[in-house]
Amino acid sequence: MAVLVTGGAGYIGSHTSIELLAEGYDVIIADNFCNSNPIVIDRIKELSGKDVICYEVDVRDFEKMEEIFKNNKIDSIIHFAGLKAVGESVEKPIEYYNNNLISTLTIFDLMKKYDVKNFVFSSSATVYGDPHKCPILEDFPLSVTNPYGRTKLMIEEMLKDIAKVDDTMNIAILRYFNPVGAHKSGKIGEEPNGIPNNLVPYITKVAIGQLKEVSVFGDDYPTVDGTGVRDYIHVVDLAKGHVKAIDKLNEKPGLVVYNLGTGVGYSVLEMIKMFSEISGREIPYKIVGRRAGDIAECYADPTKAEKELGWKAEYGLKEMCEDSWRWQENNPNGYN
Ligand code: NAD
Ligand code: UD1
Repeated sequence: MAVLVTGGAGYIGSHTSIELLAEGYDVIIADNFCNSNPIVIDRIKELSGKDVICYEVDVRDFEKMEEIFKNNKIDSIIHFAGLKAVGESVEKPIEYYNNNLISTLTIFDLMKKYDVKNFVFSSSATVYGDPHKCPILEDFPLSVTNPYGRTKLMIEEMLKDIAKVDDTMNIAILRYFNPVGAHKSGKIGEEPNGIPNNLVPYITKVAIGQLKEVSVFGDDYPTVDGTGVRDYIHVVDLAKGHVKAIDKLNEKPGLVVYNLGTGVGYSVLEMIKMFSEISGREIPYKIVGRRAGDIAECYADPTKAEKELGWKAEYGLKEMCEDSWRWQENNPNGYN
């Protein structure tokens, strides 16, 4: 069975491609490398010991994408391709709406034309806005505060409309919490563009000496130590969740929505402490003001995914930090 993985050269897509190959799926990647490096494709082949077909293509390009559908029998699609930086989305809303919405619509036009029924969508815990309580269940109210989040919510609503009128469609909306970590080999991992916005890539750059100190955004939240609490999930666990979602779609469930998180939250200071222990390096930090748009805490109730997908995150914080650190130490300049 062949899975088309859009954005398969990216952080989550590359790890998912490896897990799909390990489970016997054929993988076809479509990526324009706007936020990834073609070297990743070689690493996926090396780590899996299998071949993958890769097309360098913008997913919004209907004609070029049609070649993929013409030349391959595609059973399912996992749609990772998209732009993902919250701050940038506020600065460049048109780029975000264009890329994230048009890519999804193009795929649906092609799915219709080539009779492909199974679709997995990369959504985000950001669609829960500022949740009224934690842990977060899938049926909590949805709201967003920035263009990136709005593209995710708009696509979710679009998918629900599509599923409503066509009961042959099988769609899994996966809401990721905070993906961190890297493949055990240290050969693939997250490579943020420029100075990282997210906590763990920032910490690793401080640990390796490329950045001076971590700015902790606020210590006056109503949390365990006043700093923000998040549900960090190992990217390999997340990748395995996608394989389970594809298996689920093969049972023809219609539209399904799952949280992919661990159910456990850690504070910023707990993250810094664990990372310092793992790396054996001091991680200097200073407390600064809150970051606009941040919330106090956000962690999942992942029970639905466990019950219905038979999936549960296996890696703990120690492994997440160890694997992020191995990737950073082995590749101080990312893939370059
Ligand atoms: P990433 O940037 O590493 O991967 C995205 C990939 O898509 C990149 O390889 C990029 O080159 C490609 N791409 C982007 N636009 C494209 C287009 N128009 N045509 C072809 N290729 C295109 O990001 P990631 O962290 O792997 O995230 C994957 C998905 O998961 C995204 O949709 C993101 O919004 C979502 N997500 C990510 C996180 C996170 O923290 N990483 C959290 C929640 C949701
Ligand atoms: C951010 C996005 C979210 C997206 C997610 C993907 C914002 C407001 N939210 O979530 O939409 O889905 O990334 O991973 O950008 N922190 C610091 N110092 C730093 C960086 C972060 O103290 O230099 C703190 C934050 O305040 C937060 C925690 O660390 O409490 C995690 O931050 P981050 O990694 O950016 O993720 P989110 O804000 O949860």
